[in-house]
Amino acid sequence: MTENHFAGADTASSDAVKAFIAGGLERARSRVHTLTDIDEGELVKQHSPLMSPLVWDLAHVGSQEELWLVRDVGGREPLRPDIDHLYDAFENPRSTRPSLPLLPPTESRRYIAEVRSKALDILDGARLEGSPLVEGGFVFGMMIQHEQQHAETMLATHQLRLGEPVLHPVRAAEAVPPADRERLPREVRVPAGSFTMGTSIEPWALDNERPAHEVELPAYWIDTLPVTNAAFVQFIDDGGYADSRWWSADGWAHRNEAGLVAPKYWKFDGGRWLRTRFGFVEPVPADEPDQHVSWYEADAYARWAGRRLPTEAEWEKAARYDPETGRSRRYPWGDEDPTPSHANLGGDTLRPSAVGSHPEGASSLGVHQLMGDVWEWVASDFKPYPGFSVFPYAEYSQVFFGGGYKVLRGGSWAVDRAACRGTFRNWDHPIRRQIFTGFRTARYASTTAD
Ligand code: AVJ
Ligand code: FE
Repeated sequence: MTENHFAGADTASSDAVKAFIAGGLERARSRVHTLTDIDEGELVKQHSPLMSPLVWDLAHVGSQEELWLVRDVGGREPLRPDIDHLYDAFENPRSTRPSLPLLPPTESRRYIAEVRSKALDILDGARLEGSPLVEGGFVFGMMIQHEQQHAETMLATHQLRLGEPVLHPVRAAEAVPPADRERLPREVRVPAGSFTMGTSIEPWALDNERPAHEVELPAYWIDTLPVTNAAFVQFIDDGGYADSRWWSADGWAHRNEAGLVAPKYWKFDGGRWLRTRFGFVEPVPADEPDQHVSWYEADAYARWAGRRLPTEAEWEKAARYDPETGRSRRYPWGDEDPTPSHANLGGDTLRPSAVGSHPEGASSLGVHQLMGDVWEWVASDFKPYPGFSVFPYAEYSQVFFGGGYKVLRGGSWAVDRAACRGTFRNWDHPIRRQIFTGFRTARYASTTAD
């Protein structure tokens, strides 16, 4: 790895970096437009109190771009200072957003296009060095990631939406598991020892991924593949939802209060499990990673299976540690940016791939599908790494530390390649299920034979 590894460009020459940034901004915008290319009524409506109306996300991405790129980097006059407060996520909790005087859809589109044309002009004349904010194009990369994160959030809103389907897969997920899946070991042993967690050199890594630091772990075993729907059905059939032994105290209380009996969007009908996915009803596919479970359900499943969720450090070591060189890779497969053969990313498939579908994306230790398909709940709370410092604003990560959030790793099928890496950290409340999340399990290795 080079000293300042630039994502996607072989040379960190300014022109190559600028072209990479412009491409990333365009990819994000085209996705946001696709996700909002629906009836006005559907855009302004709140489909769930958990989510914003889609028209809020639409203008919010432009509002953030105006703040960071047009005003801060560009030093230009505000376009719409009057609307700043409407699109401030902290001033307005999601449930209150439909009652705000938001820009209507057409005006929102015009506003974000105007911001974008100024941002591209500023990019053109920018020097991508001289301050940590612009070094390596960081703040532009932060805005690409921000818009892509909102695209994923908008997909979760679409999944919650009732009524006729409006989204259709652009690309098929691998439907048929590869023939050699049966040959994969059930679990992989990760040897005891230290590894480098987090990063100090990835140019677009966000503050919570920094700095790189050594972490010492005892030996452990981790599932080769994410837990499948078929395996999760066994937990259900065995009465797992009704047996308090498998649940944490908080999990059991939540299970009772929320009346949980199966993953979100599942329904038992005619002797089999069906799921609703973007308005389509279909049998639950046995081979897909389980999706739409809370941390509490994942934790209960793991205990029922005689196992546990991996810690965040265990997840990252399984994903990045290369025993040959002793160093940590950017991605499980190496340092190259993701391609469709490595991982199901980008949101086009509208679903996870069957387990075993991406052998080229396996880590050097032989753990599969760590990137893409489903986010994975890990055991750990969302906390700062030793040596953490806020950059560039406290509301991205710091205000969430210690707030009872659990960490999610790897990225789902709905994540763009610009917004995931081996070090990327996501988080949510342990009760949340509308996100595209599954899990895998782990156990300690005994000190003797294994
Ligand atoms: C990092 C995905 C939890 O969506 O709440 C978007 C990302 N921060 N706008 C979120 C984010 C500000 C954040 N997550
Ligand atoms: Fe945001």
